[in-house]
Amino acid sequence: MSTSTSDVKRVAVVATGVIGASWAAYFLARGLDVDATDPSPGAEERLRAAVAQHWPTLERFGLAEGASLDRLRFHARLEDAVAPADFVQENGPERMDIKADLFRRMDAAARPHVILASSSSGLAISGVQAQCRHPERVVLGHPFNPPHLIPLVEVVGGEHTSADAVARTMAFYAAIGKRPIHVRREVKGHIANRLQAALWREAFHLVDQGVASVADIDTAIAHGPGLRWAVMGPFMNLHLSGGAGGIAHVLDHLGGPIEDWWHDLGAPSMTPELKKSVAAGVADELGTRRTADLEATRDILLMDLIRAKASAGTLQ
Ligand SMILES: NC(=O)c1ccc[n+]([C@@H]2O[C@H](COP(=O)([O-])OP(=O)(O)OC[C@H]3O[C@@H](n4cnc5c(N)ncnc54)[C@H](O)[C@@H]3O)[C@@H](O)[C@H]2O)c1
Repeated sequence: MSTSTSDVKRVAVVATGVIGASWAAYFLARGLDVDATDPSPGAEERLRAAVAQHWPTLERFGLAEGASLDRLRFHARLEDAVAPADFVQENGPERMDIKADLFRRMDAAARPHVILASSSSGLAISGVQAQCRHPERVVLGHPFNPPHLIPLVEVVGGEHTSADAVARTMAFYAAIGKRPIHVRREVKGHIANRLQAALWREAFHLVDQGVASVADIDTAIAHGPGLRWAVMGPFMNLHLSGGAGGIAHVLDHLGGPIEDWWHDLGAPSMTPELKKSVAAGVADELGTRRTADLEATRDILLMDLIRAKASAGTLQ
């Protein structure tokens, strides 16, 4: 994996729960200095334990030159973590009042040109930046869990974010081996979660209608289109379905039927009955397997897949 070529050498990680600790481990593995902060009692010990747990995985991916756990510093005061930073990644609780206050303090402590990025899954960055003196450098940098493994980061600017801040954020993430995308407008759930939600909606609808079992729906994705989607996205897959005629041919040929399916898709409600059916279906599918074992298998396969994709130079 590439070494950072951006100007960022020192990153502040503000709030070090699940996502903050994973980001901290990733930044360290890319050879950066990390200044972390979190107000909860025992946060430093938990952070160091989580980073140590992620480290062997990151070593397998390959550490950047100079990468070291010794470059992690923990500060009780947010201001002390943020003041020397070249880039700030915030990972506090998903509440607008807390985020807005954190950004007000980060904005006051950071040098004026330093990017302040929020990991928020669902809050509008325009609200987060509202109390900042330099709102133009506030962006959303939404990772996919776990950030130390999954390359995607969704970058969104708010009402007052500058185009330069978005460009610098994209460049930083790309320089440390991430795959940033620019979400050009603030929409609920950004891009990837909306796409997942679209699939879940129909999966829940099919269970609700008794069309197939939970296990068969999982099989349909995990042993069918999911394999292709892990290689390339939905549009490129569609293009490849068209043979020599490519996307234009597919849309001429299958555009009508696809639209018919759209009109037939369901819009289920998350009723107590539906939740119960899905939970029962998952229990059947799990059988005697342990969730922790499945998680471990998933992570090994994910790592192999990410590595295989990185070495296949022809992929986008
Ligand atoms: N968990 C996910 O799958 C996921 C994925 C992508 C993005 N995110 C986003 O990342 C952010 C963090 O989520 P998480 O899952 O790591 O949550 P978490 O609960 O694991 O961590 C939150 C951290 O914030 C700290 N905290 C509590 N009050 C605080 C305050 N007033 N100021 C600063 N820190 C405070 C807590 O001590 C804790 O360490 C959220 O915005 C979430 O939407 C989560």
